[in-house]
Amino acid sequence: MDRITIAIAKGRLGDEGLSLFNNSDMEIVRDKDSRKLVFSDAGGGTKYIFVKPSDVVTYVEKGVADLGIVGKDIMLEEDKDVYEILDLNYGKCRFAIAGFRNSYNKKKDGVLRIASKYPNYVQSIFENRNQRIEIIKLNGSVELAPLIDLSDVIVDIVETGNTLRDNGLEVLEELDYISARLIANKASYRFKYQIIKKIEKILDVSR
Ligand code: PRP
Repeated sequence: MDRITIAIAKGRLGDEGLSLFNNSDMEIVRDKDSRKLVFSDAGGGTKYIFVKPSDVVTYVEKGVADLGIVGKDIMLEEDKDVYEILDLNYGKCRFAIAGFRNSYNKKKDGVLRIASKYPNYVQSIFENRNQRIEIIKLNGSVELAPLIDLSDVIVDIVETGNTLRDNGLEVLEELDYISARLIANKASYRFKYQIIKKIEKILDVSR
């Protein structure tokens, strides 16, 4: 069968994704503390590459990885030309607009200032709304922005809601449902169809 390369997001989402291959012939033994970025399964038929979550879609779109495991949040932000073939049903959370209860009333000159790690997604959400916005792109700790008046609201993922609560913020509007997804390069999906179907099955039954 064809060799296959799978891009895995470094971190919790990827670790959990990788564990779905346990007890199959695609399982890998890996020292979690190792900084190694490429691993093969025992049979050598599958190569796993570990990359930043936001880069998984790029590797898959370019075809250097046939498959990838990535959060739907990244898919919505990156808008890359790949197939999304399976909802892996873990890493479940929601995109939400969040802020203080009265945040919508704080707009200056009618412009809503929105801090987010997901500027493209924010743009798409507000595209058809009659609301002028300013997007402030941050790379983390987004909940800080309303606290120090850098923004009126944030658009971010909410899982337990603890980060919002601990900072006196709340969900003002729920947006898209997020979870881990299996994605495929379009050409690989055609030419490596058999093995991709086998992998889908492994991931489907292990959920
Ligand atoms: C994510 C997200 C929220 C938090 C939500 O941040 O951006 O801040 O988790 O989870 P909760 O609802 O369970 O509290 P992450 O931990 O990735 O860190 P970051 O803020 O540095 O991006």
